[in-house]
Amino acid sequence: MNEIKLGKKISEGKTVDVYESGDLAVKVFKPDAPKTVVFYEAFMDSKVEETGLNVPKIKEVELIDGKWAIATELIKGKTLAQIMQEEPENCDGYLDDMVELQLSIHAKKVTGISKLKDKLREEIESLDVIDHIKRYDLLTRLDSTPKHVKLCHGNFGPENIVVTDDNKVYIVDWIGASAGNASADVAKTYLKLALTSTETAEKYLNLFCKKTNTAKTYVQEWLPIMAASTLAKGVTSKEEKDLLFTWLDVVDYS
Ligand SMILES: Nc1ncnc2c1ncn2[C@@H]1O[C@H](COP(=O)(O)OP(=O)(O)OP(=O)(O)O)[C@@H](O)[C@H]1O
Ligand SMILES: [Mg+2]
Repeated sequence: MNEIKLGKKISEGKTVDVYESGDLAVKVFKPDAPKTVVFYEAFMDSKVEETGLNVPKIKEVELIDGKWAIATELIKGKTLAQIMQEEPENCDGYLDDMVELQLSIHAKKVTGISKLKDKLREEIESLDVIDHIKRYDLLTRLDSTPKHVKLCHGNFGPENIVVTDDNKVYIVDWIGASAGNASADVAKTYLKLALTSTETAEKYLNLFCKKTNTAKTYVQEWLPIMAASTLAKGVTSKEEKDLLFTWLDVVDYS
């Protein structure tokens, strides 16, 4: 195995920094990252690779200066978030592409991975910033949702989509993926988009509902659950926390 030498930093995140290294993108975990998290991410990457979806192929998992790192194919391009920022006038078209891409994920079934409902139950049970009544409300709501086993990305948004110059589209960041209900996945994306613009989030949701003939209320029912899940994962900005708290309130949309 050749020793990996890190080049330019592509991205700096909460739990990882991503570097270029020749034709590889190297995701370097922070020193305190548990080994299980690193290997779980590598496992999820390989599981998704097997579906045939356009994802960067995983090449190596190794220690670099005492830190765990996952090396994948380097996708030379820009994130859809960058592109949308550069071309706000084309945002509607890009939202449409985003929904189509997410539908191609939901069309896949992957066995042997976590079930979304199990993960959500654990997250709600662990969330200590809500009282027991709210927790009971959320768990009851979760229990009443239908059992689906579609592949869900879990953190689908423009920053996790990389587009090459010749318009090939790749989806990255699969650690939160699971088998579950597409509407839950869509509610999560809605919350991510709403952090920047409620108008964009609404447009996205309307597009998804139109394309899939889904009632909007069906997705909205998931919003408090997905807000709780996001809070349980740990949110750093006060702005995001405040917004998620407003979505936590169990609202009857029907
Ligand atoms: N294979 C790749 N090729 C090119 N760029 C990549 C590749 N993998 C990741 N990136 C870039 O690095 C960014 C961060 O990677 P990723 O989304 O996997 O981690 P993250 O969101 O920073 O994780 P966390 O928030 O947990 O720290 C992506 O948004 C993308 O711009
Ligand atoms: Mg990401």
